[in-house]
Amino acid sequence: MAGAAQHAHWSSRWAFIMAAVGSAVGLGNIWKFPYEAGQGGGGAFVMVYLLFVFFIGTPMLVAELSLGRRGQLSPIGSMKKIAQEEKRSPLWGLIGWSGVVGAFIVISFYSVVGGWTLAYMVKSAMGAFSNIDAQTAQDTFVSYISNPVMTLVSHFAFMGITIFIVAKGVQGGLEKAVTYLMPALFAILLVLVVYSGFTGDFAKTVDFLFNPDFDELLYKANSPEAIAAGGAAKVFSLDMVLQALGQSFFSLSLALGSIMTYGSYLTRDVNVGRSALTIAAADSSVALMAGLAIFPIVFAYGLDVAEGGGLVFMSLPIAFGQMPFGIVVGTLFFGLLAVAAITSSISLLEPPVSYVEEKTGWNRRKVAITMGVAAGVLGVLSAYSQGDNMLSSISIFGLSIMDAKDFLTNNIIMPLGGLFTALFVGWFVSRKAMMEELAMEDKTFRIWYFLARFVSPTAIGIIFIKIIYDTVVG
Ligand code: PFF
Repeated sequence: MAGAAQHAHWSSRWAFIMAAVGSAVGLGNIWKFPYEAGQGGGGAFVMVYLLFVFFIGTPMLVAELSLGRRGQLSPIGSMKKIAQEEKRSPLWGLIGWSGVVGAFIVISFYSVVGGWTLAYMVKSAMGAFSNIDAQTAQDTFVSYISNPVMTLVSHFAFMGITIFIVAKGVQGGLEKAVTYLMPALFAILLVLVVYSGFTGDFAKTVDFLFNPDFDELLYKANSPEAIAAGGAAKVFSLDMVLQALGQSFFSLSLALGSIMTYGSYLTRDVNVGRSALTIAAADSSVALMAGLAIFPIVFAYGLDVAEGGGLVFMSLPIAFGQMPFGIVVGTLFFGLLAVAAITSSISLLEPPVSYVEEKTGWNRRKVAITMGVAAGVLGVLSAYSQGDNMLSSISIFGLSIMDAKDFLTNNIIMPLGGLFTALFVGWFVSRKAMMEELAMEDKTFRIWYFLARFVSPTAIGIIFIKIIYDTVVG
């Protein structure tokens, strides 16, 4: 096993922050957050989401970063090492395993959607959206995701970029890429917000995103059968609240080993608590800005806010096809999405790569190519499970291959990984070790410790039980 001395490090705190924000800011912020906020009724969802980010997600960021830095190894190596130092069972290493395996599975399908963003950037630049109507927009998307050649090319193009960056190493690849890509991403996003603000319905957007309507969040439409049997039209439901918790985890890149691996490249002089707050604040700002860029267009063009996963690929192109400078705005938008996805996918390839590197002693290039191609091949199953593509008829417990992988990671691996990480730092690592690692002011430490020991495990435990209950009973 490679020793701590050979382990790479960030060249500065700034480089680390850019990389971690790059990991956090991704499809989750620009693609998923707006459509989930749309489905959860807007402002109330946003408010609950932000509470989760700061009271549960941020303490977990602190936990993962400090475990990584203390271990100075891959997530598996770090967890085993710390468990040993703390005289705990080596089984705690399973947290590392679930992160590394989870990251491998997630990148296999994250790259498929990443490929869609590249393809849509090209489509937009070629003027494919000009004056399309809703039906054509939908047909365009379905025929693209059903095309075995196009989806394969875009998926491997995206994976190829990811492998290229990861192969170049922490300072030469990751850092260089994020220090160019992240400022570019902020700049494009800002341009889009300003553009949407001037041309779209900004007032309605602000009202929608910041004026909470808790009825929308807490009640969902009852089924026609239940109404026919005399039930109310709406029933109380915590689904969207739990969705917000899951989304806060996904958006902050928690429980998949990414943040722990980035933590392992940290030097001792970086303040973990302050960094975690910066990362969470930047991640939430981008999610909100994505909302401010997308919803004015959605409202101005009469699109459906609760459209779901198709919002970005099937609805927005209609607007891009009609608006002034639509080709430029559309291309910028999908370019922005691609950049955000790439800085996240490198952080997903990193945990498996750091583990295999540590285990085999192979050079990074060889490991990055091997793991990237392997994840790419696994991803083909996801790519081909969409639309009418070659594997679309395969169903796993009623889900497509892509949705099954999403379910396994989002609903099982991530909550369990998060739960055990919180329990580990809160109850199984000595308080003294955590205090030493975090070097926080006494009061701040006590707040963090309370959130990590009690609040996070309880909240994650509830979401997990609810998911299992829904799956088994529902
Ligand atoms: N945080 C990324 C996003 O919001 O798109 C996705 C992600 C990256 C999740 C890395 C988990 C992870 F470890």
